[in-house]
Amino acid sequence: MRWYTGHTLYDTLLLIGFIMAALVFIFNKYGTAQYGGRFGKTGKGLKLGSKAGWVLMEIPALIFFPIFFFMGKNAMNPVPLFFLGIWMMHYTNRALVTPLLMRPSSNASGSFALNVVVLGWITLALHSYLNARYISELGTHYTLEWFSDPRFFIGLAIYLFGFVGNIYSDTILRNLRSKNPSPDEPRYKIPYGFLFKWVTCPQYLCEMISFLGLAIMTWNLGATYVLAITMANLIPRALITHRWFQKNFDEYPKERKAVIPGIL
Ligand SMILES: NC(=O)c1ccc[n+]([C@@H]2O[C@H](COP(=O)([O-])OP(=O)(O)OC[C@H]3O[C@@H](n4cnc5c(N)ncnc54)[C@H](OP(=O)(O)O)[C@@H]3O)[C@@H](O)[C@H]2O)c1
Repeated sequence: MRWYTGHTLYDTLLLIGFIMAALVFIFNKYGTAQYGGRFGKTGKGLKLGSKAGWVLMEIPALIFFPIFFFMGKNAMNPVPLFFLGIWMMHYTNRALVTPLLMRPSSNASGSFALNVVVLGWITLALHSYLNARYISELGTHYTLEWFSDPRFFIGLAIYLFGFVGNIYSDTILRNLRSKNPSPDEPRYKIPYGFLFKWVTCPQYLCEMISFLGLAIMTWNLGATYVLAITMANLIPRALITHRWFQKNFDEYPKERKAVIPGIL
């Protein structure tokens, strides 16, 4: 199949990726992924602790991407190397920093389903291949001039806003719980500050913004695939999380939306 780069394997996998994103969106209407304290205890099957689950699920991104990347003929050029740096920064945070800083509740064992880890691997393998192969081999616009192209610096600004906003939102959530929570400490509290003023899940909103920025700054459909699958996952999860807060806290701020300020 040749419809984007002319590379049959790449174009076929890209199409499969978009079909996967559509299926994830449909399946998420019937229940969100089984991980985390609110949703991870439901369902059958093998469960891991949340830190182990996150690290195991996300660590392939730090392995697959460099492997595919260094197979490309343009791997040592400055623009591809810059994107390699962005990728490693993003996934070092997602695979190591965030999980290791997490403060699991004292009864949090077994809240990360193994099937979520396996689905995560498939998504990340495709995500790594589609971006690394395009950036270091198939993309033809990553010359030095790309650093002064408006798509690059507008996309980079959007990406950085999303990346920093995601970390900041995660930090606010983390600090709601003490470092070693006692069994009688309430597991959940209402978060305030930053974008929590407008939405329940700014961490998800900022994650999507960061991938929007990545898609713009790399100008490649492989990055649009990850934006699509992230939206397919996180918008339904934000809606369920929002309903959970409204149900569990009578004083939950009425004006707060789920994930898009003023809209959704
Ligand atoms: N790219 C993607 O497709 C994707 C998918 C999923 C997540 N992510 C990112 O991964 C990060 C973690 O996501 P997540 O779904 O695990 O987020 P989450 O539901 O916000 O949970 C993150 C941590 O904060 C705790 N927490 C959440 N709400 C709390 C509250 N009201 N009071 C006290 N503690 C609270 C959770 O504890 P419990 O475990 O006890 O609930 C968990 O330890 C986010 O930055 C998210 O954007 C990305």
